[in-house]
Amino acid sequence: MRKARLTLDPAFTVGPVPRRLFGSFVEHMGRCVYTGIFEPDHPTADEDGLRGDVLELTRQLAPTVVRYPGGNFVSGFEWEDSVGPREERPRRIDRAWRSVETNQFGLAEFDSWARKVGTETMMAVNLGTRGLQDACNLLEYTNLNSGTKYSDLRVAHGTKDPLDVKLWCLGNELDGPWQTGHKTAHEYGRLAAETGMAMRSIDPDIELVAVGSSSRSMPTFGEWESTVLELSYHAVDYVSCHAYYEESDGDSASFLASAVDMDLFIDQVVATADAVRAKGKHNKRINISFDEWNVWYQSRPHHAPGVQPWDVAPRVIEDEYSITDAVVVGTLLNSLLRHADRVTIGAQAQLVNVIGLLRSEPGGDAWKQTIAHPFEQVRHLATGEVLRVAASSDKYETARFGDVDVVDASATWDEDTSTVSLFLANRDESDSASVEVSLRGFDVSKVVGAKVLAATEGQDRHTTNATGAHDQVGLRPLRDVTLVDGLATVVLPPLSWAVVQVAKA
Ligand code: AHR
Repeated sequence: MRKARLTLDPAFTVGPVPRRLFGSFVEHMGRCVYTGIFEPDHPTADEDGLRGDVLELTRQLAPTVVRYPGGNFVSGFEWEDSVGPREERPRRIDRAWRSVETNQFGLAEFDSWARKVGTETMMAVNLGTRGLQDACNLLEYTNLNSGTKYSDLRVAHGTKDPLDVKLWCLGNELDGPWQTGHKTAHEYGRLAAETGMAMRSIDPDIELVAVGSSSRSMPTFGEWESTVLELSYHAVDYVSCHAYYEESDGDSASFLASAVDMDLFIDQVVATADAVRAKGKHNKRINISFDEWNVWYQSRPHHAPGVQPWDVAPRVIEDEYSITDAVVVGTLLNSLLRHADRVTIGAQAQLVNVIGLLRSEPGGDAWKQTIAHPFEQVRHLATGEVLRVAASSDKYETARFGDVDVVDASATWDEDTSTVSLFLANRDESDSASVEVSLRGFDVSKVVGAKVLAATEGQDRHTTNATGAHDQVGLRPLRDVTLVDGLATVVLPPLSWAVVQVAKA
């Protein structure tokens, strides 16, 4: 049996749980939009052509913010193609994913979907093939009332009230050579500053995200953030981070420790942003928008067999997630929570089909992938204040990160409901872990919830959910939990993710 000890105290907090931390991402890529959220011929489709089954599952996950419309897609997107009468919208090539975009789903349709889900829109502008003027035109279209060229165009398109989008990404992954319109940090920093200032002159209430590094392993990482922020600090509010993890060469030990990389990534971007703040004598702090993160098996072929260039809504990166992947996603959520004072926006990538929390089949069923379970639990149960977790855990050896804690944890304290929520992962693939949690400073005496995701009889760490088998992997009651005199003891099965809640009697 592996062992860990956690100490929590209501006086030691990271900060409030940021409302926008549990977001997701809808890109015009593969089948995320078409046959994902939008499929007019589907038996469950509503009057707007939105898939009712996917809408219902999305409501259960309740992402607090959704980034749209890309991703790499946005760097070639001409937003005017996606508005107005559908029959007049052009079919365009999407160079990023080498498919055809029909534009049958666009800004108004996304806005209507977001309202039905009850989520906030985070809009990205094209700073790849386009620039300042187009970003301003789009903002005028979405946020001004009427009486100007683009606001009147929106009204003429049948949307009287402004969409009122407050959160904007100034481009996407422009540090990456794969990006249409890839730029140097200097080129991008100037463009972000100019575009941000111009957009703020139209709507001073917007919040702006500058493009950060596409991963911590980018050759320009660090220098990119430093140069971009030196040039644009006054004009932006956040810098982005993107990170995708996968198990390579059978090294599950390192894969399970992916959150170590995410922790480091965040710490290093915070340090860089704060150094620019000091050097530039700025008062405000730049926080992090971690607006693409997930497990993604990038080393596998991106396109499904049979997909041809310029197909409409092809099957692209439809990764099927296992129990191992769900445990990793649980630890990535822990990393975000541990840094909730500086990571105040998060967007898991992506919502459906494309490395999706959800999967759907054209004309068929829709279901939650394994990774949706930790997302959904943390989204709903992490409330109030994030607690600092003083942890002492048995270690295990990894090739990539050296010795790593077997037990990974985060915790929140909700004073309104007198509830402590613990989010725990056991990274050991063969041993259970006994976790002692000292809660003596809290007025809690009863276990009010305990659920675990782990392999059950006949399953192994590779088990996934699938069409027609939606609930092979899910949450089951965790029985091995006690709370005596402010000391909780939780026994986690091998390779598992769990949530435990304790509250006042
Ligand atoms: O989420 C899939 C892709 O990953 C996005 O289009 C891009 O921004 C990132 O590289």
